Amino acid sequence: MPAFEDTELGVEAQRPQTPSTTNPMAQHLQKVVSNGSPAKQNNTLSVPNGEKQFGAIEVPASRSSIAEAEALMHSLSISPSQVDRRGSRNSFGTSLPIPRSKRQSRVSALAGDDGRPTRPGMPAIQPTRDILSSQVQDMSSVKTAAAKDMAFAFDIDGVLVHGDRLIPEGKRVLEILNGDNELGIKIPHIFLTNGSGKPEEARCAQLSKILHSPVSTEQFIQSHTPMSALAEYYETVLVVGGENYQCREVAKEYGFKNIVVPNDIVAAQPTISPLKEFFNAEQRATSTPKDFSKVKINAILVFSDSRDYATDLQIIMDLLQSEDGVLGTVAKDPTKDRIPIYFSQGDLLCPTEHPIPRMSQGTFRISLEAIYKAVTGVELERVVYGKPELATYKYADEVMTSWMGTIHNEERLPKNIYMIGDNPQSDIVGGNMYGWNTCLVRTGVFQGGENDEKNPASFGVFTNVLEAVKTAVKKELGEDFKFNWSDAMNPVTGAHSVSAIE
Ligand code: G3P
Ligand code: MG
Repeated sequence: MPAFEDTELGVEAQRPQTPSTTNPMAQHLQKVVSNGSPAKQNNTLSVPNGEKQFGAIEVPASRSSIAEAEALMHSLSISPSQVDRRGSRNSFGTSLPIPRSKRQSRVSALAGDDGRPTRPGMPAIQPTRDILSSQVQDMSSVKTAAAKDMAFAFDIDGVLVHGDRLIPEGKRVLEILNGDNELGIKIPHIFLTNGSGKPEEARCAQLSKILHSPVSTEQFIQSHTPMSALAEYYETVLVVGGENYQCREVAKEYGFKNIVVPNDIVAAQPTISPLKEFFNAEQRATSTPKDFSKVKINAILVFSDSRDYATDLQIIMDLLQSEDGVLGTVAKDPTKDRIPIYFSQGDLLCPTEHPIPRMSQGTFRISLEAIYKAVTGVELERVVYGKPELATYKYADEVMTSWMGTIHNEERLPKNIYMIGDNPQSDIVGGNMYGWNTCLVRTGVFQGGENDEKNPASFGVFTNVLEAVKTAVKKELGEDFKFNWSDAMNPVTGAHSVSAIE
């Protein structure tokens, strides 16, 4: 069952009655039929067949599909404010598909804390502490209900880590939310990052190590995670960005059938990128060259940061101006018939181990938009996933609901959701537009005063993630809520009375 209905998304209201002649993105957003070509449909913004259980759902874009190059070219630090974004919502009717169903099978959801599956038909084997905490929770029912009715969505870079370096308060926060609290309860939380570049499982394993707490793929969304839905629409895709060939692996896991990466093209046609300096033997050996004059690329997916701007921009420009996505051709009217291009996120800057935030995927996109405008004379039309895009938050609801089922066996969305982020232009704009409580922390991109002037955090600005979480938990569960579990709170031995716990 989908966690939300089409009508809730307002998708119906956005559907054009006839195929758009001015919107190449909408024209291209048609499901792949068996022969691999986009299916011809009268309604270009179709929502997948309701009978289908595991389909994609198309969420109207909340950001204009037209490039922002002109507005941003001279001042990359000034991004559109929340107010500007509202004005530009969905102006071209573009929609962003996200997976409709839960990503994980119920089998993995039934696994215990230690990853072992529970015994079918038999009571779960619970360690003593779990038994004690469930007794404490039974006796503190009001607080327990409140703890299950709040949830956190954590930005990662600049909130919990800087690149591979832990932000110490992040570790403590996860201990508290994973049960080191007076109820011994798991307070629901998911990770919602614009990060990208490797398969979900690998990234979660890496984060678990850095944060010293388990991070499950079931509670994790990176910028390209919802783009798995696009596998139903495009059979052959150019996947751009990331280290080595990891994004090819990501695309494979998402179900894309034919995946091309820029190195495959360079290996087949070395002259395509005259500015490329290095293409070593190993890169050549691991690429998949072929005769690209016979390959029709249906869409371009920028999954992660480009490691070679010159080559990637050149190949993308070639494809955008080609006849039907065939390299080496030039379309009669390249601005009308171009193939669609998707970016996994739009952040301009990213906090890293370096003291000053570094350029992120947004700067690559702005470069492309500027080049495209300069070469063709028209603005590039594109789709950008990731925070603050509505589709990403809709998908976060889906994941949060499913995660509640996993940890509390209650598949529902908690009422009070707190987004904790460091970037006003993505985390805070998106959370505010989506009606979440928003907390801005000072450990990342935001380096301003009392609050961000254009995109103020609704719940406030905090020194770090621990301060934000403690303040939110106290608001929901009481000022006296204790941020540690003690076996002395043993209702069986009577060490603490119920009233003392409440
Ligand atoms: O901007 C790039 C990305 O690394 C940001 O990640 O976790 O701050 O959304 P995050
Ligand atoms: Mg961040």
